[in-house]
Amino acid sequence: MRSRIVGTGSYLPAQSLSNQELESRIDTTDEWIFQRTGIRSRHVAAENEHTSDLALQAARQAMEMAGVTAADLDLIIVATTTPDMIFPSTACLLQAKLGARSCAAFDVQAVCTGFVYALATADKFVNSGQSKCALVVGAEKFSRLLDWSDRRTCVLFGDGAGAVVLKPDPEHGILSTHLKADGSQSHILQVPGFVDNGEIGGHAFVQMDGQAVFRFAVKALDEICKETLAANGIEGKDIDWLVPHQANIRIIMATAEKLGMPTDRIVTTLERQGNTSAASVPLALDTAVRDGRIQRGQTVLLEAVGGGMTWGAALLRW
Ligand code: ACO
Repeated sequence: MRSRIVGTGSYLPAQSLSNQELESRIDTTDEWIFQRTGIRSRHVAAENEHTSDLALQAARQAMEMAGVTAADLDLIIVATTTPDMIFPSTACLLQAKLGARSCAAFDVQAVCTGFVYALATADKFVNSGQSKCALVVGAEKFSRLLDWSDRRTCVLFGDGAGAVVLKPDPEHGILSTHLKADGSQSHILQVPGFVDNGEIGGHAFVQMDGQAVFRFAVKALDEICKETLAANGIEGKDIDWLVPHQANIRIIMATAEKLGMPTDRIVTTLERQGNTSAASVPLALDTAVRDGRIQRGQTVLLEAVGGGMTWGAALLRW
């Protein structure tokens, strides 16, 4: 038995913030940002809009496509780096907002790789027969973690959520998942903040060595994609769609080139969304499912890399 994605959904906050608007706030240009990253604009959640609210909208869409109700869910996993609060988990808050009762609910924290980690975890629950209907969400209010005066980081990220519903299927579905981490590289991308005796300790905003992250990402993604293809006995030319983490168009194109994939087989959403961390893969997946690019029977490769450092991939027969 495989676990198959039977519904996808996504949500972007109403407010879009363009590179031109950033030009008026910090020392940057649309040209610099677009050439270096491929990003033109990103969405920013309202002050009273929390990660669980973004997750709720995406989850409802995915559940509608899947034809399931809150009562059908037996597992909710939310991948997020920006939980509403320290606890309860965002998955528990989402469960309450959905009106679901008693099913297992927990968060997964693997930053930008979070959705791939959450999908791999849910896959194991479904494969083992423990879950018959799982909701997996990647949701981020990443704007909370940005120092809006730091041009090296604030131009890169955006807010949003994407969701999928998984069910058992005798034939189609997730073929394999591959997860990695290297904690020795945690310092190249981090938010080293914590709450201690009522005070915020450390540093509460994103700190990044951009070039080190770039180099790490290209190498890690190449390795994980090749491992995934080899495990399934296929080559890059056999993949119908690459749905990558949307961090930087140059990282995405480097991965596609190493796989020997043409650019028209890559789903990209980062131009209008920026890097939405754990939300980026399910947001891109939902886009390509809803516009009809991804069709039943096709082979789809998901991949992501992020803070930790973490990285991972999943191969799907749609
Ligand atoms: N606007 C204008 N100038 C800028 C900006 C900006 N927004 N940001 C940095 N600069 C300046 C720098 O200050 C530097 O100026 P200097 O030479 O006078 O010191 C110059 O531009 C070059 O800076 P670099 O950091 O060398 O620029 P680089 O070409 O490496 O691009 C970038 C930076 C886009 C961050 C790139 O390194 C990158 O994409 N790295 C990957 C990071 C990433 O994707 N992070 C997302 C999270 S991790 C993940 O999701 C995989």
